[in-house]
Amino acid sequence: MSIIKILALGDVVGQGAVRYLESNLRRKISECGADLTVVNAENAAIGNGLDADSARALWGAGADVLTSGNHVFRHSTLHGLLEDSGKLIRPLNYSSECPGNGHTIVTVKGVRVLIMNVLGVVYGDQLNCPFEAVERALKREKGGYDVAILDIHAETTSEKAALARYFDGRISAVWGTHTHVQTADARILPRGTGFITDLGMCGPTDSILGVDSRSIINKLRLHMPQKFTVPDGRVSATGALFTVDSATGRATGVEPIAF
Ligand SMILES: [Fe+2]
Repeated sequence: MSIIKILALGDVVGQGAVRYLESNLRRKISECGADLTVVNAENAAIGNGLDADSARALWGAGADVLTSGNHVFRHSTLHGLLEDSGKLIRPLNYSSECPGNGHTIVTVKGVRVLIMNVLGVVYGDQLNCPFEAVERALKREKGGYDVAILDIHAETTSEKAALARYFDGRISAVWGTHTHVQTADARILPRGTGFITDLGMCGPTDSILGVDSRSIINKLRLHMPQKFTVPDGRVSATGALFTVDSATGRATGVEPIAF
């Protein structure tokens, strides 16, 4: 068993961010010494969601596993990949009749890493209970993994913190996604879970959460329908680097990342 480093990146927003990661992600992986890179690809496609071409581009850019969220079923081109690929997961708490899986296991430096993705239900779709969905996945895979990690795609900070605290000591790294804003609370919880409330996003810097600022301002001021587009221009990427001791399952470090 050994120390593994996991680089997790927040929601990819738009095609500019996909191109940015194609140019920069491998360099960042080697700078960080990451052994496993997990990217939330929730809004990579044009018009949000994820399409098959963007998923392949992100794997090509260096992402080992892609997680997702509430827009995952938007593009039908992805449904086949969700069924076939162990490198792309959708939230655990959708119905078992939906395409794909909510977890996958990959082996890194001889360590079997269980990667899970779950959707929050506060201010979101009323899916199956996220606590129970994660519990079931841990139980089902018991004995088949050495280290577990979890992406909680959720709106509220409290729901993400509650899930992280509930599974403290049983999941080595827990991070939130979906709000597109990186939080300044990366820390190790009392029983050894590395946690950050939100990773932020990979997307255009001159925007509101990755969307053209003017359309968001108009929506909030005028309450009239707006076309939301992803602006061109400078892109940045944020996330966190987790260091995990696979012998104990405890995180030994959590560090915010921006590039
Ligand atoms: Fe989302």
